[in-house]
Amino acid sequence: MPQAHVFPWWGGYLLLSPLRKRRVDSMELLRPYVREGMTALDLGCAMGFFSLSMAELAGPAGKVVCVDVQKRMIAGLKRRARKAGLLDRIDARVCTTDSLMLGDLPGRIDFALAFGVVHEVPDRESFFGEVHRSLVRGGRLLVAEPKIPVPADRFRETVDSALEKGFIIEREWTLKGSRCAVFTRN
Ligand SMILES: C[S@@+](CC[C@H](N)C(=O)[O-])C[C@H]1O[C@@H](n2cnc3c(N)ncnc32)[C@H](O)[C@@H]1O
Repeated sequence: MPQAHVFPWWGGYLLLSPLRKRRVDSMELLRPYVREGMTALDLGCAMGFFSLSMAELAGPAGKVVCVDVQKRMIAGLKRRARKAGLLDRIDARVCTTDSLMLGDLPGRIDFALAFGVVHEVPDRESFFGEVHRSLVRGGRLLVAEPKIPVPADRFRETVDSALEKGFIIEREWTLKGSRCAVFTRN
């Protein structure tokens, strides 16, 4: 598989910018899916723009597993989680392009988010397969991809890859510069 372009680690700071916060309300996006006590998964979490909101929504009895291929992203996420007093709810993992490192969590995740990451993953089929195995029955996966550089036909291929792994599509919509889809694991 060819190596896809990976977002640079220093761009992790740009993803936390006040401008982005004005465009994307992370709590509003996640509130319908993450409830108190849940175990959530943030795939390609970078420095945690969504992870910290997930940790707030999951509450003290919940957990957020955060995975990223870049050590510096995970280090930034941990720093921010510690500062916010949320580190004890975060299980942060540096993964590889071959494995999301979720082998110890089969059927344990209630909700997974893949925001802006699938187009960077070299093997989409294996990615969706691992996520499918980690979810509980009835668990949900929200995939969002930026309209640039992911045009509509490429997003369709992404949706199709998830369907091939056994996900059922629940909803599709656009959110500012991104196309989004929510799937259920049956
Ligand atoms: C564009 S950023 C989006 C970050 C975050 N989801 C957000 O929206 O703020 C993509 C992230 O995915 C990570 N990534 C790229 N390939 C990955 C892979 N195969 N597995 C896990 N993370 C990956 C990158 O290191 C980067 O932090």
